[in-house]
Amino acid sequence: MAVSFVLFFVSVLVLSGRVVSEPVQDKQALLDFIRPLPHAKRVQWNASVSACDWVGVICDANRSFVFSVRLPGVGLVGTIPPNTLGRLGQLRVLSLRANRLFGEIPSDFSNLTLLRSLYLQSNKFSGGFPESVTRLLRLNRLDLSSNNFLGPIPFAVNNLTQLTGLFLENNNFSGNLPSISLVNLRDFNVSNNNINGSIPDSLAKFPPSAFTGNLNLCGRPLRSCNPFSPSPAPSPSLTPPPATRGKKSHRLSTGVIIAIAVGSAIVALLLLLFLILCLRRRRRQPSKQQKPPVVPRAVAAEEGTSSSKDDITGGSAAEAERNRLVFFQGGVYSFDLEDLLRASAEVLGKGSVGTSYKAVLEEGTSVVVKRLKDVVVTKREFEMHMEILGKINHENVVPLRAYYYSKDEKLLVYDFMRDGSLSALLHGSRGSGRTPLDWDNRMRIALTVARGLAHLHIAGKVVHGNIKSSNVLLKPDHGACISDFGLNPLFGNTTPPNRVAGYRAPEVLETRKVTFKSDVYSFGVLLLELLTGKAPNQASLGEEGIDLPRWVQSVVREEWTAEVFDVELMRYHDIEDEMVQLLQIAMACVSTVPDQRPAMQEVVSMIEGINRGETDEGLRQSSDDPSKGSDGHTPPTESRTPVTP
Ligand SMILES: *[C@@H]1O[C@H](CO)[C@@H](O)[C@H](O)[C@H]1NC(C)=O
Ligand SMILES: *[C@@H]1O[C@H](CO)[C@@H](O)[C@H](O)[C@H]1NC(C)=O
Ligand SMILES: *[C@@H]1O[C@H](CO)[C@@H](O)[C@H](O)[C@H]1NC(C)=O
Ligand SMILES: *[C@@H]1O[C@H](CO)[C@@H](O)[C@H](O)[C@H]1NC(C)=O
Ligand SMILES: *[C@@H]1O[C@H](CO)[C@@H](O)[C@H](O)[C@H]1NC(C)=O
Ligand SMILES: *[C@@H]1O[C@H](CO)[C@@H](O)[C@H](O)[C@H]1NC(C)=O
Ligand SMILES: *[C@@H]1O[C@H](CO)[C@@H](O)[C@H](O)[C@H]1NC(C)=O
Repeated sequence: MAVSFVLFFVSVLVLSGRVVSEPVQDKQALLDFIRPLPHAKRVQWNASVSACDWVGVICDANRSFVFSVRLPGVGLVGTIPPNTLGRLGQLRVLSLRANRLFGEIPSDFSNLTLLRSLYLQSNKFSGGFPESVTRLLRLNRLDLSSNNFLGPIPFAVNNLTQLTGLFLENNNFSGNLPSISLVNLRDFNVSNNNINGSIPDSLAKFPPSAFTGNLNLCGRPLRSCNPFSPSPAPSPSLTPPPATRGKKSHRLSTGVIIAIAVGSAIVALLLLLFLILCLRRRRRQPSKQQKPPVVPRAVAAEEGTSSSKDDITGGSAAEAERNRLVFFQGGVYSFDLEDLLRASAEVLGKGSVGTSYKAVLEEGTSVVVKRLKDVVVTKREFEMHMEILGKINHENVVPLRAYYYSKDEKLLVYDFMRDGSLSALLHGSRGSGRTPLDWDNRMRIALTVARGLAHLHIAGKVVHGNIKSSNVLLKPDHGACISDFGLNPLFGNTTPPNRVAGYRAPEVLETRKVTFKSDVYSFGVLLLELLTGKAPNQASLGEEGIDLPRWVQSVVREEWTAEVFDVELMRYHDIEDEMVQLLQIAMACVSTVPDQRPAMQEVVSMIEGINRGETDEGLRQSSDDPSKGSDGHTPPTESRTPVTP
């Protein structure tokens, strides 16, 4: 079956309103839940509409049960009426965070046996640790933080063997910490409670900030519980206190001597290597100087064709005029081809359409020069197409500043973006020193790229044709802009088939034509890349040759797990709602059927509508948009390449 569960489920979400069936009993349970509780106007659960189309409610593929209920920050006030939510026997995700709910968690929650994620943080719930919750054996994430829970944390949390995150901070829990030994537990926090006694060994691996703010808590990783051991050092056996180290420093142990010897040897080796490299570089330098990477001249020499320099400086004045660098209006540059030829350049990357150089002009300005190869269109067609691309002006699109066309050379000049590409930021050496890209920035990148692409589609009527993370360039304000857009028409039907592998929509393989909808697919893959941290063509997706959308589908199909998400994102526990919402949008974009993909404009409002944090801003859009269907605001020339030479 080609259409996977999740894909189908998301399609249903997007195309909702076409299927009439609905989960009658779940609907009644939800109505019973919301009726006595004041809530934001946006949550208008209309009894004459299927519950599957309600704000915050998601059903399974068959619309036969409610799968997830997410009502973060919608102003719910009161106690959860008993025997309401507990009747949603198939529920996997429940989020009621950031409301003003109080009282105890109803005991019938124990009937939510399939629940994977429970987010109740930032309310005013009280009472003891909810006993019913310790029966939810499938629970993956449990967040009770920032409430008024009190009393002991029960040993029974050890029942929850699937738990990866347990957040109990900012409550009034007291008593001792039970020995919680859950193998999958990666995130844990009990700070700011009233817990006393010693921290069990099984929890000592979590950082001190997971325990601070408790009156009498002690033991690793906090101060020692033994009043006769004054040392605050957590593990004296591993790190001797500075005092002892100081005493010993005048007499080096043999171990230290060996370490120093080995270290010096390595440093010497490295120095030698560096010297050799420098020398080799220097030897190569002169030849480079002769053909300064100044694009055309260097290349002409390389390829042994007649010097393209003649094209430019030689020949008649008319010819020179014809072959000049053409700038677009509103540009900020004032240089000519000669300046460009004199500029020093370095290769930024070799792509399927040509090589990009960073050229530093003599006055210090940097630009990107893209040297196109295998252009098939005539000069006139080329110029006409450039006029279209040059008009595109949007803060999330890298502006095309100038172009040059001669028989042998076709050059494009773009702004240089010094912050590099998303690809480098996501996949550049992980760990050592690199700051992980945090969730806010990923969301901002997703949104700004979507806006840039929607502008291309709507205002420019241009298909990008090559969306991938290395064509997403970062801006100092942490937004992003897209480069390399709209070049496909220059290559006729000869567009290399293996171009943008991993991002390419399935139908493009046959038609060889990029469309608005194939851009949406590529954008969906980009979203998955942001969410999973995995490169779409990465080999480490498990099975051989499986692409990112199918990998995500196969993981998510099992159940809604946190496993698909980038480990670098798992530190932030408030964002799972948002990540799942973005995942849903991504899955809609990578639908195998082009017509089922939303238009880029819709994607923008879906991302804008993701419920962010505590505010209820945007909730309206997130729910309205899916019901619009995919045939609402599609660009006019939807299924063909809009710019025909
Ligand atoms: C509920 O939905 C029905 C049918 O779509 C509509 O006619 C009605 O006005 C809605 N009621 C409210 C209160 O929105
Ligand atoms: C949907 O319903 C059909 C038939 O009623 C059933 O075969 C299929 O397994 C169901 N799918 C899911 C995901 O429940
Ligand atoms: C849980 O569900 C069972 C039947 O599915 C029902 O008999 C029981 O009363 C429910 N428990 C609670 C606490 O609602
Ligand atoms: C959970 O743990 C408690 C106490 O350890 C025990 O009484 C209870 O039966 C357990 N529940 C399940 C479903 O294992
Ligand atoms: C925490 O609970 C204790 C009783 O166990 C109570 O005296 C105290 O006022 C509570 N603190 C808060 C902040 O609710
Ligand atoms: C911890 O606090 C409880 C009361 O909340 C008290 O009964 C118990 O003796 C305390 N234990 C220690 C080790 O201080
Ligand atoms: C635990 O929660 C507190 C309070 O919200 C926070 O300051 C701390 O950074 C958290 N620690 C960890 C390890 O998450």
